[in-house]
Amino acid sequence: MNALGNSVADPLYQQLADTLEEMIQHRSLRPGDRMPSLRQFSRQRRVSVPTALQAYAMLEDRGLLEARPKSGFYVRASRADAVRPPSSGSPLPRVTDYSKLDPLQAILASQNAPDLIPLGVALPDPKILPQARMARELSAAARRHSVQCSTYDVPPGCAALRGELARRSLDWGCALNPEDFILTNGCTEALSLALHAVCQPGDTVAVESPTYFGLAALLQELGLKALPIPVDAERGVNLDVLEQALRKTRVAACAFIASFHNPVGSCMSDEDKRRLCTLLARHSIPLIEDDIYGDLQHTGPRPRCLRAFDDNVILCSSFSKTLAPGLRLGYIAPGARWKDRVMRLKQTTTLANVGLPSFALAAYLREGGYERYLRKVRGIYRQQVNHMRELLAHALPEGIALSRPRGGFVLWCELPPQLDAVQLSRSAQRVGISIAPGPLFSPRGEFANFMRINCGYRIDAKIEGAVMTLGKLAKDLLRRKG
Ligand SMILES: Cc1ncc(COP(=O)(O)O)c(C=O)c1O
Repeated sequence: MNALGNSVADPLYQQLADTLEEMIQHRSLRPGDRMPSLRQFSRQRRVSVPTALQAYAMLEDRGLLEARPKSGFYVRASRADAVRPPSSGSPLPRVTDYSKLDPLQAILASQNAPDLIPLGVALPDPKILPQARMARELSAAARRHSVQCSTYDVPPGCAALRGELARRSLDWGCALNPEDFILTNGCTEALSLALHAVCQPGDTVAVESPTYFGLAALLQELGLKALPIPVDAERGVNLDVLEQALRKTRVAACAFIASFHNPVGSCMSDEDKRRLCTLLARHSIPLIEDDIYGDLQHTGPRPRCLRAFDDNVILCSSFSKTLAPGLRLGYIAPGARWKDRVMRLKQTTTLANVGLPSFALAAYLREGGYERYLRKVRGIYRQQVNHMRELLAHALPEGIALSRPRGGFVLWCELPPQLDAVQLSRSAQRVGISIAPGPLFSPRGEFANFMRINCGYRIDAKIEGAVMTLGKLAKDLLRRKG
């Protein structure tokens, strides 16, 4: 790594482009500034002129520089910078059930269709994932641990992996032990176990509004009601609203995504995380934390988990967003109060995990390859999110608002109020593009004019074309309304 966080494994021109991109983002280079000539830049950085040209070309592709004939390269005026952040949901929480989600099931089901351009799903590009490395680790684990891999990996699951998780927990601001973890089938099972453990059918769970639709579906299936609390695009869940709501409503648990929220992208400050934990401890309300995007900050240190502020937080996560959703490598750290209950539920509902992926991941984590890989993808997602913000700001009608996430790879986009995102999603699907319309993220069917856009895939000509098409469809719909 160099001082700016570039991986030494990246080609030189990419390292130069990344450095310049950071300077543009930090406004050391401002829109309209003329860049040094290629010859000057190559002298300054002691690289060849073709390398300097490759770096500039890469920044042109990312929409950050423009070449002006006979004049040189200039920092492009950013349209996305002028766009405001999206507004929050209703400030008046009301206990709600999720029946409104039903008509949206078709949209949800079609999100994963392989022939759609994937702007709807929140998934990393398989081409970015370390598939070859994982394949090697899987085959090595199958040889090394053939006996353990062919029998039940009973809860709490593979000790080697739990040991690695404990080591990693220092990075989350925690100091967990291997015994604190129970391995699960993805984060979904962890969330399901947590809700099962702390709630009874008919109970109310405070969730963020908007919230991840998988959590909404879980609440629906478990016969739980939701108390949606608005999320601010920067600060995360609105703690003043939550505090007031808890005075009026009996809540059995809170289930929040404090770091790089899906879909809003917000990350709570340490101060707010501490305030949330203190508030819930005062009311003796269990806090379930979904930390699935926590490792994916775009720059700087990893955000601390809520669990770092209170040992009773039930921490749920997985490697689905970072490594491979298909390996189903998840975990729960339920804390002393809920551990026995969660163990019992895990034993009775799934009996055991598949051991092989756990042994493979433990080896990968032990050898340090995962950290190197994370350093690389954090930069990739930062660029892709910024690039997508620029594309959307150019393609969509005037009057949109866009989130500015500092981690993860989804964007939350507010469209003009007359636009119906479900209608836009249907039109987009007809031409082979998936988006995730706002009402999917709301128990009350709010966010009718919002959509979530995935930036996990490499932005190539196909994706750029899809964003332009989306813009045209949105403008057509708007014209018809007007
Ligand atoms: C916030 C959040 N939690 C949980 C999940 C599901 O995770 P897993 O695939 O590990 O079950 C997702 C997937 O989109 C998610 O975005």
